[in-house]
Amino acid sequence: MLDMKKIGIIGAGSMSHALIKGLINSKVNIASEHILVTNKNKIHRLHYLKETYGVNITGSNKKVALESDIIIIAVKPNDVKDVLNDIGSVLTQNQLLISVAAGITTEYIEKNLENRVAVIRAMPNTSCHVNESATALAEGKWCKTKHLEMATEIFSSVGRVLKVKESAIDAITGLSGSGPAYVYLLMEGLIEAGIVSGLSRKESFDLAVQTVLGAAKMARETGEEPTLLRKKVTSPNGTTEAGIKVLEQKGFKESLILAVQNAANRSKELSKMIE
Ligand SMILES: NC(=O)c1ccc[n+]([C@@H]2O[C@H](COP(=O)([O-])OP(=O)(O)OC[C@H]3O[C@@H](n4cnc5c(N)ncnc54)[C@H](OP(=O)(O)O)[C@@H]3O)[C@@H](O)[C@H]2O)c1
Repeated sequence: MLDMKKIGIIGAGSMSHALIKGLINSKVNIASEHILVTNKNKIHRLHYLKETYGVNITGSNKKVALESDIIIIAVKPNDVKDVLNDIGSVLTQNQLLISVAAGITTEYIEKNLENRVAVIRAMPNTSCHVNESATALAEGKWCKTKHLEMATEIFSSVGRVLKVKESAIDAITGLSGSGPAYVYLLMEGLIEAGIVSGLSRKESFDLAVQTVLGAAKMARETGEEPTLLRKKVTSPNGTTEAGIKVLEQKGFKESLILAVQNAANRSKELSKMIE
């Protein structure tokens, strides 16, 4: 689907880097010379991407908009307005515009474009750097199936993709957007527990990381409900039950639910502030 398509990326930061790396190294079959990247000030970032991945670079957002079939906005939410000012009048119905900017709605983007351009809002997470992102995609009002397919192909190069209604994006921001940080906190706790119990930091780190990775892989590969997986490894009066008992007394699951809800509310607030 993406064969021979020209992809323009506005922004040359962390997200842009992950996407370029993912696209070039994946089976998607995008030639590096079909990717054109721009940013605002840091020319050295553009040169780094050109030297490392062989992509084309430019200092002009308008050039990216004029020469690409698919344009990805990968700038901070507060910079989206400037980008739309640069490209809003030149984009056409034949192009696809994807934004990864947190809190920026498709409606806001569409309002700032002169033509009926297909817009997709993507919510990846930081694990895109290791090709394990959980990315949610929401369609704007002019999107057709082919647009969603193209966006799915792009974000599949950096992990797994889920199509959602845009109204779900705040909840998704709270769950999978902020989620890696919750898991890091869980790992911090496991590591500290190991150290307190006499293990070295390295031993605790290796054990905690492998445990989280293994548990995630079990859930993904078996497709079984975590509740069931947990019950399978919790024998009555055993060691795991003793551990789980404390977590339940301390409201571990309830805390996670509240954390996701709080993050989702914050996402809503930020969205209103930006727009
Ligand atoms: N990083 C993640 O894991 C992640 C996860 C989910 C969503 N996101 C979203 O991805 C977006 C980008 O995040 P990031 O972490 O990649 O940010 P970043 O590292 O700060 O990069 C932002 C880039 O945007 C460029 N830029 C700013 N204004 C511009 C303009 N007017 N025209 C062209 N380029 C401009 C900057 O150029 P200069 O440096 O030259 O100023 C920089 O290259 C954000 O909206 C964020 O919400 C990121």
